[in-house]
Amino acid sequence: MTFLEIAFAPYAVQSKVIPSMAFNFDSCPDRAGTDSTKWHKYAQRDIIPSWIADMDFTSPPAVVEALQARAAHGVYGYPAQRDEVFNSIVKYMRRRHGWEIQPEWITFMTSLVPGIHGAIRCTTNPGETVVTSTPAYPPFLSAPIISERTSIKLEMVLVDGYWTFDWEKLEAACSQSASKILLLCNPYNPLARVFSRAELERIAAIVKKYNLVVCSDEIHCDLILDPAAKHIVFAAIDEDTKARTVTLMAASKTYNIAGLTCGFAIIADAGLRTKFRRILQGLSLDQNVFGLAATQAAFDHGDEWRVACIEYLRGNLDLIEKELKQMPGVILHQRPQSSFLAWLDISALGFENAHAEFEKGGVGLSNGLDFGGSSHVRINFGCPRARLQEMLNRMKAVVARAPSNKK
Ligand SMILES: Cc1ncc(COP(=O)(O)O)c(C=O)c1O
Repeated sequence: MTFLEIAFAPYAVQSKVIPSMAFNFDSCPDRAGTDSTKWHKYAQRDIIPSWIADMDFTSPPAVVEALQARAAHGVYGYPAQRDEVFNSIVKYMRRRHGWEIQPEWITFMTSLVPGIHGAIRCTTNPGETVVTSTPAYPPFLSAPIISERTSIKLEMVLVDGYWTFDWEKLEAACSQSASKILLLCNPYNPLARVFSRAELERIAAIVKKYNLVVCSDEIHCDLILDPAAKHIVFAAIDEDTKARTVTLMAASKTYNIAGLTCGFAIIADAGLRTKFRRILQGLSLDQNVFGLAATQAAFDHGDEWRVACIEYLRGNLDLIEKELKQMPGVILHQRPQSSFLAWLDISALGFENAHAEFEKGGVGLSNGLDFGGSSHVRINFGCPRARLQEMLNRMKAVVARAPSNKK
């Protein structure tokens, strides 16, 4: 075996059978002092962090092994984009999503947020309009402002218990001559909605009619919790959609490797792809060797872990739903269909600043205001169940002293 073959041996393993028992989501390493954004925020206080979207679980064993092998190599010079990594993504898209893509459609980026900016900048001029919806993953709101574009923010609505678009308003927004791009988040952070084929076809028909490009952020697509839901890649709806879509994806959310900063865009249309790359050239097209190694290992060998993780997250969600029954005034309008984030309506509690009250009570949630949605908090349930139980206990104590529950 050559040295390279040894270093990359974990990638060569064709099928690694790891019994589900091998994954212990109940026990996670302490993240204090590990350069974690999530844990650093409350390092000096007794507040359980439940905000930024990463999970507390150890990544799949195949990912850890691949990183250990790469680290053991000891040389960390500039990375190249090996064919194997592209092929791994191509195969994953085929296997997981039934989507046939070409390796050359893939553009690696340091992470997805630059991709959102890149998609906006390559399809609009300053002053032109980005159509998006609220509540939104915060960069969907800040990216148009930073780029000096205007935006139309459509409020999502609840129909028959599911979050969806107000279709008339979506069409009206897209029909404006200044509107050039729609930012779509599917599965939807923070509403955890997985759009149906019928909904995606409706969006496809509207953007075709008014000639908009779509930036489809599908980073949460491999953690589908609702057995009745299926992720459908927007660009795979039809040929027209394929030609007008920038799809953003990464292994980062599903396999918990966001700190390795490796995402990618998939763009079928050569013209759009060239414009996108030109915008990001010199700013964010570099990857790092660890991100590439982890992405490949996750896509090639992470599936058993992913399935076990989904099962565990479903259990966590059941716990949240059970405990919410004892939190009058906290409403989960729709059971999350995906990922590890739940959007809680706390408008009925009567607190002036509920987010701060939860922090005082020892739970660090995401503030709905950051997502353009008032009177909400977002809880991150990608953590061991005992920790989630402790968070929910603390939340119950806060809710019990809410103005609405004191009357
Ligand atoms: C919808 C969505 N897109 C993008 C990101 C961030 O991606 P990255 O860390 O690759 O920039 C997140 C993180 O929470 C997200 O929820």
